[in-house]
Amino acid sequence: MIDINKQNELINAAMKVRENAYAPYSNFQVAAALLCADGEIVSGINMESSSYGLSVCAERNTIATAVAKGKRDFIAMAIVSRNGVTPCGACRQVLFDICGDIDIILGDEKGNIQDTTTMKVLLPKAFSRKDLG
Ligand code: THU
Repeated sequence: MIDINKQNELINAAMKVRENAYAPYSNFQVAAALLCADGEIVSGINMESSSYGLSVCAERNTIATAVAKGKRDFIAMAIVSRNGVTPCGACRQVLFDICGDIDIILGDEKGNIQDTTTMKVLLPKAFSRKDLG
């Protein structure tokens, strides 16, 4: 697990953009901050659609932004929400696929760390590209 200073740096990076979350339907704003292996931190938010099923979580938006910047190796992600929720099932799959067994830091709306865990704990026995042969 990354040290507490790095955890707080990631939480703060997510806190900074959370107000930009576009969540007019659920009113549940989420932000994520992804620590890349080169030290850069990439952040993102959830973005909802009037066609509800097209909404995209903060975690997947953040990963896509990082990949678009050419990032391929990752260390940790902080996720900030009202109450410090864990990533949804769809995001767990994408997180594991793209980032592997990274550290996960869960923060609440005040920026307090509620929990820390890892992707392997959140998605045991994961399906991944290895299974495709
Ligand atoms: N959401 C996220 O962005 N990340 C999570 O970890 C949980 C859920 C979003 C999806 C939707 O825009 C809103 O929160 C309510 O589900």
